[in-house]
Amino acid sequence: PIPARVADLLGRMTLEEKVGQMMQLDARSGELSDLIVDRHVGSILHTSPDDLVRAARIVRDQTRLGIPLLVGDDCIHGYSFWPGATIFPSQLGMACSWDPQAIEDAARVTAEEVSCTGVHWTFSPVLCIARDTRWGRVDETFGEDPVLIGEMASAMVKGYQKNAAAGETFADDAILACAKHFAGYSYTQGGRDASEADLTHRALESWYLPPFERVAKEGCATFMLGYESIDGTPVTFNNWLLNRKLRGEWQYGGTLVTDWDNVGRAVWEQHIKPNYTVAAADAVKAGNDLIMTTPGFYEGAIAAVSEGLLDERLLDDAVARLLTLKFQLGLFEDPRLPDRARIDAVIGSADHARRNLEMARESIVLLRNNAVLPFADAGELHRIAVVGPLADDAQNQLGDWAGNSGQVPWMPEGQPREMICTVLDGVRELAPADCEITYARGANVVDLVPDPEGELYPDGQPRPKMAVAAKIDQRLLDEAVEQARAADAVIAVVGDVVQLVGETCSTATLELQGGQNRLLEELANVARETHKPLIVVLVSSKPQVLPACVIGENGVIVDESAADGLGALLWAANPGMQGGRAIAEIIFGKTEPSGRLPITFPRHAGQLPVFYNEIRGQHGNRYADLTQDPAFAFGEGLSYTTFEYGDPQIVNGSEFRAGDTVRVEVDLTNTGARTGTEVVQLYISDVVTSFTWACKELKLFRRVTLEPGETRRVAFDLPVDSCTIVNGDAERIVEPGEFKVLVGHSSRDENLRQATFTVVE
Ligand code: IFM
Repeated sequence: PIPARVADLLGRMTLEEKVGQMMQLDARSGELSDLIVDRHVGSILHTSPDDLVRAARIVRDQTRLGIPLLVGDDCIHGYSFWPGATIFPSQLGMACSWDPQAIEDAARVTAEEVSCTGVHWTFSPVLCIARDTRWGRVDETFGEDPVLIGEMASAMVKGYQKNAAAGETFADDAILACAKHFAGYSYTQGGRDASEADLTHRALESWYLPPFERVAKEGCATFMLGYESIDGTPVTFNNWLLNRKLRGEWQYGGTLVTDWDNVGRAVWEQHIKPNYTVAAADAVKAGNDLIMTTPGFYEGAIAAVSEGLLDERLLDDAVARLLTLKFQLGLFEDPRLPDRARIDAVIGSADHARRNLEMARESIVLLRNNAVLPFADAGELHRIAVVGPLADDAQNQLGDWAGNSGQVPWMPEGQPREMICTVLDGVRELAPADCEITYARGANVVDLVPDPEGELYPDGQPRPKMAVAAKIDQRLLDEAVEQARAADAVIAVVGDVVQLVGETCSTATLELQGGQNRLLEELANVARETHKPLIVVLVSSKPQVLPACVIGENGVIVDESAADGLGALLWAANPGMQGGRAIAEIIFGKTEPSGRLPITFPRHAGQLPVFYNEIRGQHGNRYADLTQDPAFAFGEGLSYTTFEYGDPQIVNGSEFRAGDTVRVEVDLTNTGARTGTEVVQLYISDVVTSFTWACKELKLFRRVTLEPGETRRVAFDLPVDSCTIVNGDAERIVEPGEFKVLVGHSSRDENLRQATFTVVE
């Protein structure tokens, strides 16, 4: 039933006001008063701090009904477009923590900051599965596994919404979350963003839908649709996905927003709707509530109703949902205008910087360590050379969605430099006072050139410049090598830059660009000659393909000796404003490394897609010229201590039925000399399945911190009902038979110990 206040307001709205209410326009796209007064727009996004105030005044003073605007923005790892906001590690970086509580806390900080600016809604989290990592938006995901994604997304939604769910009232310092991009957007062709791919219902049900189902049922207030199609119908118009699955089976009562001009693109780009009238009618019939950045929806929807193509009652349903959301936010009583006092006290506060540092510490993954880290006796280091193009590049360290890539005119310089601790800053802070720190850039990453296809897309939006590998700069290289030779240790910070990341910015290769491989090779040669440690820190939006001197990959053969110049390798993803401090703490041993990979590192872009839960195939699933073994597997990550696992035991029986819980216990011992945190991972493998199925799947995990010598029994409760496969009719079923429970340190078989149980009818 529609709440009485909503029904009353709806009853007083004209057709034009209802259509306008369903529109979300970019606040940069025209004069605010034109959008709000003339087109009755109900929602805006990408709004400058000044315009946030102006917009609210225009609604109050110049509109007939004074319906408050719903203001949304992409606050993906902090409020990207607010100068001085706390920018966390990328979502992928946060996923490396395997720590849902830490992610909930980070989202809480973001909600506290965003909620005082006049923005009510973040378009986050991203629940897409990252498998072909050439895709430009891998950094925005929680990685490759649906269970891990579900856990992390659930935590993030709780943090944003402060535990409120769709249908409830939202606290003043809560914001609306948005699960996106529903569903299968990351299933691309060749990793190219928003390319059309034929996604089967079975694949959707197996991997792409489960995380969305979880947050839909837990009350994530809004869902954003992707750009892709299922069975030839873009999700924006897809009855099967929206009405049958989401609204039907899952009983989702929240609000749906399209992605950028999904409705218009069906007309002018995909040519599957003849005009805006039909497109608008079909979008409303499919159940969309808010249409993002399609100005033509206004005329289209009005014409569709007038011409009898669209029943106005369907508009009423959508508008009722939007008004209800505005009432639940309390916007009619308090439009949540920017609150100067709270802004000054909360945004970028010292407390938030501290919480950001805690998140960053957990997000760094130690991938290799040839007994050089931590710098045990830092006193013996008289000179450290910090080199590499990412060592002191504050803006690129933050990655995408940080207000640093010229997306918004009000932040030409990006986030304030003084708020960002680069690796060079962090090393300077933590190195002993008498240790000299030198710095050399060593290499450039990319040069920007105009796209030969033109400067604009057909809709008039600017086409990003192309980022081509920068040429080797001999002067930069020589300077870095010279400094490395003179140092007791070298920290090389390499990675990618924002021009290689993001929407419409997929990459054909994953190799380090520009002069970076050459730099690493020269530094590895110096390390071999001088026997001084070389620490490679990868600050990159996504897994990169690393050169032989780092991963020992030598064409076909995996040759460990090729990497004998490497001391240690850390992956920091885009570690946020506190990233350099967290990295330096790990290098100097002030923080124990505890991150684990939520995504596989390939050896070569030609291995893609490569992910751990591959469906069992037949004869021939290999390359003749390249191993399919990845450089680093899902779940991997080292500590400064060592852990030993006992054999897992199933303690409550051996035969189970639907509805039962299997209790698995395992002894974990810290066998090293330092306190450390292990992420205990539980996978299952359904031994014989009636339909092809994954070799193994993560089901549960737990972070456990142990003192040296300490043993702890770690217990997991595995619901039999979660041990599903998906059959040929895209139904999730539990098949009777034998299951292996695999417990251990990573998804690699050699890291897992097993027990078995049987499911009976
Ligand atoms: O929220 C984003 C979405 O993820 C991609 N297209 C644009 C939207 C609004 O900026």
